[in-house]
Amino acid sequence: MQNAETLSGIPVNKVANDFPTLTSTGVTYLDSAATSQTPRQVLDSMAKYYEHYRSTVHRGLYLIANEATKEYNYSHVVVAKLVGAEAVWDEDENDVESELIFSSGATQSLNLVAESFARTKIKPGDRIVITTMEHHSNLVPWQRIAAEKHAELRYVEFDDEGRLDLAQMEELMNDRTKVVAVAHTSNFLGTINDVKAIAGIVHKRDAYLVVDGAQGVPHIPTDVKSADCDFLAFSGHKMCGPTGIGGLYGKKELLQRMEPYEYGGDMILTVHRDQATWNHLPWKFEAGTPKIAEGIGFAAACRYLESFGMEEIRRHEEETTRYALKRLSEVPRLRIFGPLKAEERCGLISFVFGGKFGKDSYPHAHDVGDALGRRGICIRVGHHCAMVAHEELGISASARASFYLYNTKADVDRLADALLEFERSPPV
Ligand SMILES: Cc1ncc(COP(=O)(O)O)c(C=O)c1O
Repeated sequence: MQNAETLSGIPVNKVANDFPTLTSTGVTYLDSAATSQTPRQVLDSMAKYYEHYRSTVHRGLYLIANEATKEYNYSHVVVAKLVGAEAVWDEDENDVESELIFSSGATQSLNLVAESFARTKIKPGDRIVITTMEHHSNLVPWQRIAAEKHAELRYVEFDDEGRLDLAQMEELMNDRTKVVAVAHTSNFLGTINDVKAIAGIVHKRDAYLVVDGAQGVPHIPTDVKSADCDFLAFSGHKMCGPTGIGGLYGKKELLQRMEPYEYGGDMILTVHRDQATWNHLPWKFEAGTPKIAEGIGFAAACRYLESFGMEEIRRHEEETTRYALKRLSEVPRLRIFGPLKAEERCGLISFVFGGKFGKDSYPHAHDVGDALGRRGICIRVGHHCAMVAHEELGISASARASFYLYNTKADVDRLADALLEFERSPPV
């Protein structure tokens, strides 16, 4: 990471020093779409909790329990702010009322929406619309609900450049369409979908829009109010936060009407022998002792990203992607998926070697990942939990390089040079 040229307003060389795994291993980390690195600031916030005020929340009346409660509760305000969700802080009670719920990640957030919201809305013969570029987390829960409720599951396709066919989406919207679930950005094609335009299409038919923001929120300024989505799911570990925590935004009036997802401690207001009442938002959806350190770390990650500004992070990634598209175009026979223009895609590029080497050989994505891994270049290979999109393209696996605020032009050069060398002498 050292001596690398800075691409944008982000001081990348300085930034990279914040990430212990990068400095201690020296790897070229191009796998942030799978999970990002964690900066020292986030690790310190969690260590401070464990070392100085380790206690549970919402129960104790002693000093350190009050501190833990305040920090954990306020973390919701910080994360909500990053996506423009409403969170009202009660200074006297150290409590929050928010449209932002902490979950274990995008997967749990999406399952929560499918179970607690869609299950009650979907009736036999209704329609759920998703797209062929969805991650399995925003596909399988809908498959399941559709099968169980005898509803139709219909797919919006993408074109040769990985762009969604919004005209087809309009056609698929009918009076029985209840839910549309779409990724903000595709974790395989890199396509950035126009959520605002999609919300317009969906709401014209009084349906509800669920957005999978797992690859959007970490990289692109997000405002749930102007995007007008009904739900937004995202993961902390893809945005410099710890593993095991994520967010779900839902419009308040919807969350208030929904039944809890899990039952137990903390999510109740009162419990009697034969009935119980629910706590206010967000606690109604956070049953059990919460992920206290992770919540605090999640907020620290949001503060870290905000210290650069999401606009600036997006600009940096767009420039990095533009440069990567140019360098990777120099690699013979490399087939790149998704939009050709950097401004239409997020900071990840998936590819395969499209031509054949030697007589019958066809280097598999795993061979590419293996060869790069030996050079200390970390990329992801496989179907990236987007098997339907791979099937659409007639492939079973691809390689994916993904960028974040700590990646430099030099990282891209290392990737391109390694691929050029691999192409010259592929495995036999
Ligand atoms: C687009 C997209 N959606 C959902 C997920 C699931 O996220 P998690 O595994 O953190 O729940 C991912 C993770 O790769 C993703 O890329």
